[in-house]
Amino acid sequence: MPDFRTIDIAPSILSADFARLAEEIKAVETGGAALLHVDVMDGHFVPNITVGLPVVKSLAQATKLPLDTHLMISDPGIYAEQFVRAGAQMVSVHVEADAHLHRTVNSIKAAGAKAGVVINPATPIESLNEILDFVDYVLIMSVNPGFGGQKFIPTAVDKVARLRRLIDQRGLPVRIEIDGGIDLNNIRRVVDAGAEIIVSGSAIFGANDPGNAVREMLEAGVQWV
Ligand code: DX5
Ligand code: ZN
Repeated sequence: MPDFRTIDIAPSILSADFARLAEEIKAVETGGAALLHVDVMDGHFVPNITVGLPVVKSLAQATKLPLDTHLMISDPGIYAEQFVRAGAQMVSVHVEADAHLHRTVNSIKAAGAKAGVVINPATPIESLNEILDFVDYVLIMSVNPGFGGQKFIPTAVDKVARLRRLIDQRGLPVRIEIDGGIDLNNIRRVVDAGAEIIVSGSAIFGANDPGNAVREMLEAGVQWV
């Protein structure tokens, strides 16, 4: 009998109603979310400002879901470790934002969290060559970071497939996450290309029933092996 592998759905609270955050989180927990994706923006690396350390601290108290914290901030090395202390189990930083990426990645791991690196749509996977051995996951952006509800950039599918090959060739235990414009129409394609952690904001929190939206995405992303 064929076996199946499920993917991890990481709802991005950026598209949630912040005034009803606890309720929104309950809904996606019930729907089967594996992680909670928290977008931290500084108004400098990206042209938008969102939440920071105090919110991560409160979220860590409010949910059992691991917090997957995506830092869209300049010089993330200054803050990365503080996000782990605030309760994030996963912290990712952009390669474009950090001149001392290796140091930052190691500081995240030393503080006790999984460390990820993120690349923008125009950043080649070759930029990951030297850091790949040191990270737990790579986040491929399938939109330009800064806002929820943007249109999926289809070349991200091939980028995921090329990264998957690189990781497998090198025999590394690195997971691939994808973020931006993922919905029921394209989830299958990114999973088939090799993405295992799927971030989705507007397609989940923009739905009438966010819990059901998570369930539908899980079903659509199941992989028979
Ligand atoms: C964009 C953020 C994403 C965003 C995804 O800069 O990193 O996590 O919330 O939202 P959707 O799924 O609506 O593109
Ligand atoms: Zn994100």
